[in-house]
Amino acid sequence: MENENYDAAIWNGILFGGVTIAIIICRILYNHITSRLPPTLPWLPKVGSIPFINTENRLEMLVNLKQKYGDACMMYLGTRPVVMLNSYQAIQEILVRKGNHFNHRPYLLGLNELLNSKDQDSFITSSGSTNEKMHRFTDDALEVQLHPTTGTFQSNLQEELKVLFKEIDALKGKAVDYEELLLTCCSNVMNRVLIGKRLEVSSTAFQQQLQAHKDNIEALCNSKCLTVDPTLRFIPGFRGAYDTLKWAADTRRNIGEGLMNVRGQGGWLQLCEMNANKPKGAVWSDDISESTLKLMIQDCHTGGTETMARTLNTALMYMAINPSIQKQLQDEIDKVIGGATIKMADQQRLPLVQATILEILRLSPMLPLGMPHMSHQDNTVAGYLIPKETVVFPNIYAIHHDEALWENAEEFKPRRFLDANGKLSQTAKSNLLTFSLGNRKCPGEQLADQQLFLMMTSLLQRYYFVTQSKIDNSHLKQNMGLMLHAQPIKLCVRAR
Ligand code: HEM
Repeated sequence: MENENYDAAIWNGILFGGVTIAIIICRILYNHITSRLPPTLPWLPKVGSIPFINTENRLEMLVNLKQKYGDACMMYLGTRPVVMLNSYQAIQEILVRKGNHFNHRPYLLGLNELLNSKDQDSFITSSGSTNEKMHRFTDDALEVQLHPTTGTFQSNLQEELKVLFKEIDALKGKAVDYEELLLTCCSNVMNRVLIGKRLEVSSTAFQQQLQAHKDNIEALCNSKCLTVDPTLRFIPGFRGAYDTLKWAADTRRNIGEGLMNVRGQGGWLQLCEMNANKPKGAVWSDDISESTLKLMIQDCHTGGTETMARTLNTALMYMAINPSIQKQLQDEIDKVIGGATIKMADQQRLPLVQATILEILRLSPMLPLGMPHMSHQDNTVAGYLIPKETVVFPNIYAIHHDEALWENAEEFKPRRFLDANGKLSQTAKSNLLTFSLGNRKCPGEQLADQQLFLMMTSLLQRYYFVTQSKIDNSHLKQNMGLMLHAQPIKLCVRAR
């Protein structure tokens, strides 16, 4: 009996010792791994870091992350670890130097449900060769359309501007929110690029398109909680957000399908058909299937309409609340162009206009966190471990508000983009990340550059924008979901 007790005591001792050693080993391993992870925001089980994030002012929070945690930091959105890259070097390391690893998109319920069409990868959610093929096709198609002498883009845009001017003139100086007018104009600019044709604004097809652009944003904003915890969609109170998302996804799909039936002159469908009979060594190298083309058209329509309309709307607001800068731009335009039609060839001759557009893209980058990236293998950034399949966001907003790069970063000072000779400073421009970096950077950057220049200059040549609201520049950066959205402000114009 005594022996049995003795044996039991020994076994208990061994068990206790074994468990203690196992706990110590796990602890050492845990410490070893976590000490290599980026500094992490406080977090709680299930809800993650959300209670510790300043949701009142998320943009200020993005800038503070850099000040408090340095080049990279980690937070938990629910149970999901997310890494924020807060310095230019860290973003460049991931998106350029290690771009081949980090060119995958993570599954985020809101984005994927909205963009995926019948489980096929869209432009924005695809990875690997499908995505590379879409980028190559878009680059080639835009190269043809944006060509300074043979491209159709400039003349098509001038046509759409005439329609916009008519709408503005009909308002007779009445104060309105310009967002819908600009969404209408930008939607038809994209229709002309993608299908080679504008749609009548009164047509059902166009009205559906316009509604879809408004709903996309609402659906993405409402679904933030589902992205944190996808299982919430099974709980009645959250079901509505999920249904809106599904509905917005269906509308997008219908629009994509509708556009595939229109074959206008110089649109992507026509370019594709030319591509099928391409002579050897023709502009682009890939054959694109009809289903891939439809997905590209859907995403480029969304990507190219909502970002452009909101950037232009914000730009007009900056003009209205900074009247002396607006006047300086108009003086430059009057002196260099007079009343002639503005062309891309004039861009270099209007440095202040260019600098002002860059300053607006700096202060109000429409995608302040770009888009999420992910690697399928463990990796490092700035010396920290990024475990495989961790969501990584480039904190573009923090770079654009970094005092080390921009003196008095919060101030609206277009001349920071000019050098001592009054020419555009390429050094300052190279610190901008509005369109992201690397192989996956925005395929519409050049189109956006041309459209912003031509529209902004033509509008300022013709109108003087004013507002009666008592507001300052800080009102122009609000409502961050995945996209920045200025507070709605009514503007009116005075003809010049
Ligand atoms: C001011 C205007 C615009 C801004 C600020 C903007 C910004 C961005 C950013 C930051 C990304 C994420 C890149 C990344 O994954 O790292 C992106 C992706 C994308 N943009 Fe733009 N963009 C603009 C205009 C356009 C236009 C005009 C088009 C139309 C062709 C477009 C189509 C797209 C598409 C399809 C993607 C997804 C690319 C991919 O996932 O591989 N964007 N954009």
